[in-house]
Amino acid sequence: MTVSAFNRVAYSTRDAVAEILVDRPDKLNALDRATMEQIDAALTMAADDGAVRVVLIGGTGDKAFVAGADIEEMSMLRPEQAQAFSRYLQSVLDRIERFPKPIVARIQGFALGGGCELACACHLRVASTRAKFGQPEVNLGLIPGAGGTQRLTRLVGRGRALDLILTGRLMDAEEAHRIGLVDRLAEPDALEAEVEALIELLSSKSPVAQSRALEAVIAGGELPLTEGLRLEAALFGLGFATEDMKEGTRAFLEKRKARFEGR
Ligand code: COA
Repeated sequence: MTVSAFNRVAYSTRDAVAEILVDRPDKLNALDRATMEQIDAALTMAADDGAVRVVLIGGTGDKAFVAGADIEEMSMLRPEQAQAFSRYLQSVLDRIERFPKPIVARIQGFALGGGCELACACHLRVASTRAKFGQPEVNLGLIPGAGGTQRLTRLVGRGRALDLILTGRLMDAEEAHRIGLVDRLAEPDALEAEVEALIELLSSKSPVAQSRALEAVIAGGELPLTEGLRLEAALFGLGFATEDMKEGTRAFLEKRKARFEGR
């Protein structure tokens, strides 16, 4: 299924996967407000579709995943409007991070500024060796405003995040992989296959378990350790009331592959 009502995002589903493609290649997929609204609407469709088990976020073209927030649109903003825009960007990226189904970013080219922040909000990042990462806002006299000072720091550590944020330099994909900003790396012509293999693996596992694991890791990660452990135990316990748990344990004992229904 493909939705044609969008003009900046292409949304489609196939099997258990929903693909949200940022589709402004002439602007290197820069994120203006309308693009963010369409990503948000696409997320609602992916959330509501019971057949969707994994979401893939990518960008159209060879050159860029997303080259940042739309600088032209941003250049007109007054301070209070810029603060509101930042809060809006953050809210959509927050929704991605808290999404109850795994979200994979496929990064084939530039992931700069808001693009790097979008990638950081996804649960897993698969990149081509041609991809480039960076938080170049300092070149514009700005700081990251879509979570970059927070999420990137939590992902790679303060020193590495500050290295990118204070210098605005571009980081190649090998370095990004080495520091944990990229989870899986592939040669450009093997990127699609790497992404497909990951999606297939993810969609063969228990969706209820994945959703609870995401909650434990993402929401639990914001808590002090003692409370995070309490949350983990509560979510672990809930797993024992699910059909997926019965199927998973039965399949193990019967020495066969489990078929999870997500209940
Ligand atoms: N916002 C708005 N437009 C953008 C954009 C952005 N973040 N990034 C690229 N574009 C536009 C360019 O203005 C250009 O549009 P035009 O053809 O109408 O002039 C088009 O996309 C192609 O980009 P161009 O700069 O010509 O490509 P390049 O190969 O020379 O450079 C980059 C590629 C990624 C290095 C360069 O586009 C860039 O630095 N982009 C901005 C990155 C950034 O600062 N992001 C953080 C924003 S907060």
